[in-house]
Amino acid sequence: IELRRPVGDPIVIDDLERLSFRVDRRAYTDDDLAAQEMTRIFDRCWLYVGHESEVPGPGSYVARDVGGRPVVMARGSDGVIRVFANSCTHRGALICSQPAGQARSFRCPYHDWTFSNQGDLVGVPIPDGYGPGFRKADFGLAQHRSDSYRGFVFVTFDPEQPRTLTEYLAGATEYLDLIDDQSEVGMEVIQGAQLHGARANWKLMMENSVDIYHFRALHKRYVSYMESLGSVPPRRRGGFGRALGLGHGANELPPAAARPLAYWTPMFGAEVRPRIEATAARFVDRFGAERAERITGTNRALLIFPNLMIIDAIAITIRKIDPVGAGRMAITSVALAPRDEDPDIRELRKSHYLTFLGPAGFATPDDIEIIESCQRGYLNRTVRYSDLSRGMNKEIPETTDELPAREFWRQWDRLMHGDDGHLDVAHRAEMQGAEPR
Ligand code: FES
Ligand code: FE
Repeated sequence: IELRRPVGDPIVIDDLERLSFRVDRRAYTDDDLAAQEMTRIFDRCWLYVGHESEVPGPGSYVARDVGGRPVVMARGSDGVIRVFANSCTHRGALICSQPAGQARSFRCPYHDWTFSNQGDLVGVPIPDGYGPGFRKADFGLAQHRSDSYRGFVFVTFDPEQPRTLTEYLAGATEYLDLIDDQSEVGMEVIQGAQLHGARANWKLMMENSVDIYHFRALHKRYVSYMESLGSVPPRRRGGFGRALGLGHGANELPPAAARPLAYWTPMFGAEVRPRIEATAARFVDRFGAERAERITGTNRALLIFPNLMIIDAIAITIRKIDPVGAGRMAITSVALAPRDEDPDIRELRKSHYLTFLGPAGFATPDDIEIIESCQRGYLNRTVRYSDLSRGMNKEIPETTDELPAREFWRQWDRLMHGDDGHLDVAHRAEMQGAEPR
């Protein structure tokens, strides 16, 4: 594939005949490409904002950055979830500086303009200072187009985004269903987020999160620890990787030792076991044996393009990965769990979440260290390409193959070319060889 823009030479080389797939390492290091990713990918795609359980009742809100933009996700007094630009319509200050809370209104600290939790401007101080042309109705908070699927709330900053959220999620909906089906009363984000970062390009973390190839090599210490407990991590082969369309991908693995519900049974004392077995039996009643086994007995890692990972293994980790220029990223992790979870199982889940996928857990420090090592390795520009071709010769790729990463890169390549069928005017002109405006 010849990448016409933004640089002359191909970045992603996808050669089906030679069964080779290579990525130019400038995709991880080039500042211009990083800037173009913000407009061509993050300004266009549907991006994950948060989970509905984070704004459980009227007036609850969270404030965070999405695609480099500060936003507020608020449930209005009318019960509706909206996503607003966190920027005062007067002169731009953040109208909300708390990460989460409860508010009937947001008061901008600069000059005290006040907005309702439904986004309307409801008060300005000294209102007689304005002429008759000043209408409060013209100064409500900017509201972004948002939607949710099974409790996961997404936003798009592209008013022309042609796909509905469900269309955009494509095959990923199957996996979001498998996650949300884990509770009859709904899933919830466990309070508290882990915020950390890495001195590496954001795409390295996306690749890593859906890469099983590295597990036994890089996480040796975890593997030997589990073996010392007599609890065996997924040694046997099996499972499969999938490309889910539009850049999304997944891995499904056979049951590991540590798994919520059925596969945690050996880790509990006799008094808790019946409760776990009862939970597992309820799944069989609800879904039948086959789907119940898939929900409770299979680990999965889901990549939703561009920057969301849901790792449903050991515990459910929602990981949002944000670029900070070419060579840094910000990572936000939260744990998701059934709302009605047994307290003992919840404790075990939290401990697994923290001790495996947390920033100080068994796995994540290894992952951060190695992707920072890749980023440093790219400084030696002699080796120009990274190879992601494992599994291209197979009809049914295994989890250790690099299929989901290739799906990610193919969509990255399409969007960076502007080949997604919805170009803005400046970009279309640029693609036709005219000077961009
Ligand atoms: Fe918000 Fe002036 S900037 S009130
Ligand atoms: Fe890892």
